[in-house]
Amino acid sequence: MQNKYLAMTPPMGWNSWNTFTWNINEELICGAADALCASGLKDKGYEYVVIDDCWSLKQRDENGRLVADPEKFPNGMKAVADYVHSKGLKFGMYSCCGTHTCAGYPGSFEHEFVDAETFASWGVDYLKYDNCYKPKHIDGEILYKRMSLALRNCGRDIVLSACNWGTEDVHSWIQGSGAQLFRSTGDIQDNWQSVKNLFLSQLDKTAYSGPFCHNDIDMLIVGMHGSSNNEFIGALGACSDLEYRTHFALWAIMGSPLMIGCDVRKMSAATLETLGNEDLIRINQDIECRGPYCIRQWNNPENVMALVKPLSDGSLAICFVNLSETRSEMSLQFWDLGIPYAANMGLEFYNCYTKENEGKFAERYVAQIEPHDTMVFIAKPAKLK
Ligand code: GAL
Repeated sequence: MQNKYLAMTPPMGWNSWNTFTWNINEELICGAADALCASGLKDKGYEYVVIDDCWSLKQRDENGRLVADPEKFPNGMKAVADYVHSKGLKFGMYSCCGTHTCAGYPGSFEHEFVDAETFASWGVDYLKYDNCYKPKHIDGEILYKRMSLALRNCGRDIVLSACNWGTEDVHSWIQGSGAQLFRSTGDIQDNWQSVKNLFLSQLDKTAYSGPFCHNDIDMLIVGMHGSSNNEFIGALGACSDLEYRTHFALWAIMGSPLMIGCDVRKMSAATLETLGNEDLIRINQDIECRGPYCIRQWNNPENVMALVKPLSDGSLAICFVNLSETRSEMSLQFWDLGIPYAANMGLEFYNCYTKENEGKFAERYVAQIEPHDTMVFIAKPAKLK
């Protein structure tokens, strides 16, 4: 049953949490599925529609099974899954490795196999699996292995999205658990400081991601503009469109799953342009799923850097980022990418924002970057003469 290509590249889709938290229902989830299709984002690869926490009743039924809240989901979960599938999309849900979910609903602890069976019977394709109310005497590693085994044997292909917030050195054991993605950070907030902190926190972990097991830096805040109904997520104001574009570029080149967190039924043109950038999606979805390395600007190493990701066709994806508050220079020496001076080789630069071919460069590429901005290129080695 197991599909060997399940989540080979980072999953892409939409999740209800960042904007709606507890305020979810059938109409919202089906509306999000409609919007992914109508906006064209489905055709660009966004395929999972995921319901996060707060979907169930507070009690299991007499057979120990989870029950969807009939007020929020009057036709049951199978009907929602069927609708999402009818749109050519995949359906995701949420549970927790502890006794309760973070919002206090029943968790899957000691119910892993029966819950996996329930999710399979509803037509679930993706399970986000959280870390709240975890019994202290059991390692998270055991609990994520449990749910992974349960899902791998439930009779349906279900992606396991482990969400233990980067605790217990998750990067060191998650491959062996069988999960397809692992949250490596605490919860994202809709502000620039949060984007910057989460990105920097994973710069030394890029080697731990790869095909079938992706480092999840958390869901996207692109296009939220302060619309979350949750005080923590919305704290400190929102980002500008430029900052959302930077956030997207960093998540894309870092190989993070691209799970949209805004209200997809109401996206601005700028939001759609950022989320729909096909070159950035291509960089994110490259089949080899290599993590980028980081070359820092010598005179501003904490704030200005280039992330370089080898792509499967021999080119390099390159993202310049300026995390500082002032316009700054990034000077990328091709020597640092493996191009010796005497080789008569340069790089041909294609700009993923302007969609322009900038031509061949020898020895270095130098750019001025605005505060909080990025420049993203696909660079292909080419003979100079
Ligand atoms: C957190 C998790 C969030 C969201 C929330 C639901 O632990 O990191 O992404 O799922 O729980 O309560």
